[in-house]
Amino acid sequence: MTTPEHQPLSSLIWKQDKLEMLDQRLLPETILMLKLYTPEEVWESIHSMKVRGAPAIGIAAAFGVVLGAKAYDGLAIQGWLDHVKSICAHLATSRPTAVNLFWALDRMMQKASDLAESGANIEDSNAALEAEALLIQKEDEEVCRLIGENALPLFADGMGVLTHCNAGGLATAKYGTATAPMYLAHERGINLKVFADETRPVLQGARLTAFELQQAGIDVTLICDNMAGMVMSKGWIQAVIVGTDRVAANGDVANKIGTYSVAVLAKAHNIPFYVASPLSTIDLSTPSGDLIPIEERAAEEVTEGFGKRTAPQGVKVFNPAFDVTPNEYVTAIITEKGVVHAPFKENLAALFAKDEA
Ligand code: MRU
Repeated sequence: MTTPEHQPLSSLIWKQDKLEMLDQRLLPETILMLKLYTPEEVWESIHSMKVRGAPAIGIAAAFGVVLGAKAYDGLAIQGWLDHVKSICAHLATSRPTAVNLFWALDRMMQKASDLAESGANIEDSNAALEAEALLIQKEDEEVCRLIGENALPLFADGMGVLTHCNAGGLATAKYGTATAPMYLAHERGINLKVFADETRPVLQGARLTAFELQQAGIDVTLICDNMAGMVMSKGWIQAVIVGTDRVAANGDVANKIGTYSVAVLAKAHNIPFYVASPLSTIDLSTPSGDLIPIEERAAEEVTEGFGKRTAPQGVKVFNPAFDVTPNEYVTAIITEKGVVHAPFKENLAALFAKDEA
């Protein structure tokens, strides 16, 4: 992903005393790096979607914990640990659906508990927490690259590929999840024709996916969400690949609202529907998709998105930010550990068993 000057654009940059965050609400018109100094500012940025996308939310939260921990002014490690615990609990309320948020906070909390138990002092513990957040970010980059490597054999030169929302470099440390095979294909001279759904109501497909793929020189065509069926019926799409905010233990997939419709359309047209998912997005503790909490956002996103009123005053609005695609519509889930097919319950569990071995 590059800027117009072909410089890499990162959504999160850690600078010791602050977190620099690309304000994704302003893209593609304005490239603005915010400077965040407190966990409260990180909470607000996640909540208002200045940073968005499951892995990026988790990484931002981890740095939010570091900012909060470093501000602790007591002397006792137990007080520091209680302070870190309360920061984690607060950051966990910023958004409900993407499990990477809770995954990253659990990991930071575990690290803090281990440090306190080992008798480390506060200064060393803060340094270790900072290292852990940086590691989460670094690992995400490698995980996304591996997802790209594992997905790449599913794509061939000239294929039309449809994606929904932004599961791109902006949503992760680098490469993205659904976009990782697109970047790797491009690097290796394999030309994919990407179709990006604009993704109402927040337009992550138009503002972010179309932007980052275009900047990278990848062949991308923007369509409105309601054009996906027509484009498929023309034979222009040979595969769909999307990211995810949470995969339940049975392989049901929560992702940006509209993903379910795309999956049904793909099945009707015999097009494979792939989900790119790091292990950190797979939640074996949630048995099925109906148990995944689905965020509902403000009506104004629908009635006056981007400052222009497009619906009558006072109209009733339903604005879920995510939907759940039942596992029967999912051809495969592509992870850093390999490609998982049905039966998902058994095969996802085996993936984690392999991970622990
Ligand atoms: O509301 P958002 O923009 O945070 O939703 C993002 C998505 O639905 C992405 O597809 C998902 O988080 C995967 S990002 C690699």
